Amino acid sequence: MKKRIYLKGVQYKIAALFLGLNILLSCGQQPNVSQSINTPAPHLKRIDNRTQLIVNGEPFLSLAGELHNSSSSSLEYMEKLWPILQDLHMNTVLAPVSWELIEPVEGKYDFSLIDGLITQARKNDMKLVFLWFGSWKNLVSTYAPDWVKKDPQRFPLFYNKQGERYQMLSALGEESWKADSKAYAALMKHIGEVDAIEQTVIMMQVQNEVGTNFGDRDYSELAIKAFEGEVPERLMSYLQKNKSNLIPEFEQLWANNGYKIKGTWKEVFGEGAPCNEIFMSWNLANYIGKVIEAGKAEYNIPMFVNAAIGRNTLKSASYPSGGPVPFVMDVWRAAAPELDMLTPDIYYGDFNKICEQYTLSGNPLYIPETRGGIMGAANAMRTFANFNGLGFSPFGIERYLLNDNPENAVFAKTYEILNDLSPLILSKESKKQMIATILDTITDNSVVLGKYKVDFIRRGNDVGFAMLIEIKPDDYIVVGHNISIEFSLNDRKNDEVIGFSLAEEGIYKNNNWIPERRMNGDQIMFSYSFSESYKKGKSGNGLTFRQLSVQRVGLYSY
Ligand code: DGJ
Repeated sequence: MKKRIYLKGVQYKIAALFLGLNILLSCGQQPNVSQSINTPAPHLKRIDNRTQLIVNGEPFLSLAGELHNSSSSSLEYMEKLWPILQDLHMNTVLAPVSWELIEPVEGKYDFSLIDGLITQARKNDMKLVFLWFGSWKNLVSTYAPDWVKKDPQRFPLFYNKQGERYQMLSALGEESWKADSKAYAALMKHIGEVDAIEQTVIMMQVQNEVGTNFGDRDYSELAIKAFEGEVPERLMSYLQKNKSNLIPEFEQLWANNGYKIKGTWKEVFGEGAPCNEIFMSWNLANYIGKVIEAGKAEYNIPMFVNAAIGRNTLKSASYPSGGPVPFVMDVWRAAAPELDMLTPDIYYGDFNKICEQYTLSGNPLYIPETRGGIMGAANAMRTFANFNGLGFSPFGIERYLLNDNPENAVFAKTYEILNDLSPLILSKESKKQMIATILDTITDNSVVLGKYKVDFIRRGNDVGFAMLIEIKPDDYIVVGHNISIEFSLNDRKNDEVIGFSLAEEGIYKNNNWIPERRMNGDQIMFSYSFSESYKKGKSGNGLTFRQLSVQRVGLYSY
């Protein structure tokens, strides 16, 4: 990875300060000048075994939602949406910005929409992640300006094996990556100028769910020539340097073909869908890597790419070929060294397994697209507690109207609680001290948290979920919905039994626990079969959560 460039020199800082002041003053806010001079741009910071997103100099937990594709193309339309986003207790909005609207005429930029979105977000106390719909959005190139679309000589198109053209730029067109990079660099320069101080824009997603048909590749003239040529030296030397740390499935494919360090794509990776996928990944990542590099040279904030992962839990050729999925994570890293993260859009499959695969070899977890509702609430907790995730963002967020469906209210309350708990979540050093669980298809499960075994039991048929955070030894903040929880010692050596020294319902606000109900009696007595409980190291005490709420529990042994 290149060294970070926060801002380009003193002159740039001064320019940013004044331009930032303009936009701040236009929204009637007072800038914090000491912060403006010293605070580095939003960035990712590796602490111990995890990564944090740092915004305005502080760790930030992104409780986000992604807008429908066309919403942020109109400021008037957006005005109506902010109250909905507020109701959901979000702190971040993922909003598309498109090449066609920013550069309708080549070399002439229009950033009025960008400025308007930043102003609206500030008024609503929200951060923004812009999605750069440039050369590709879901495989195709419909967001490219028409001067790009109408000039396939200069901006070559993708061809399939049968020689049919798609409405999709080839990833091998030099003029295309140059034009996209130029527009993106101009956008990043502008964002740096108006936002380096306030830091409303915290990250960028570069393109959207790129790739081509499952297991396939580009057969344009340029692509055929490249496919017949040798695997680029840059990829070969990356693989050799990182041989002991490659994604296992990818390493296996290389091994099956004899760990060749030189040769054509087919020679090094064998013939078929995985080889096509690696070739497509290299070319897409190389192109996008250049766009990222150009943008970061102007204003360096975290930049990520997102992947369509299909319904088949990442089974090869079940998702668009060439997108940033774990199998080709090493290819993306080799081709786009300034890329900060590969992120999954999780609509289907095993949420936990996908998160595990995406956090391989230190890739930080951000979920830019997923589902909301009860499952969304539970998955947000799993993202933060089990994977040290940086953010969570259901797609089409403006449709989650609070009074439409009780599930939306649970989701909104979950975001409110997570926001309250964020200082605790962000200050935890190891995932062992935090855990979340979901009971959807199953009725019970158990986890180990520090020295305790924690048993979860679903109440009734609806989805139950919970999250536990240790605040000090034997003292936990617990969030739960439709679930009961019992504790015992994980490694019970003698005949210790775990009881409750304290149980309270309350809220965690401004880094303080504020107790409301003292929980005792029927609210904590699970079982009067003392002998049976004793044998399991339990006292009969347990926590019960019907509707979503927060409790604090103190444990002791006797
Ligand atoms: C995934 C895409 O990335 C989004 O932009 C949107 O088109 C959704 N699919 C629609 O479900």
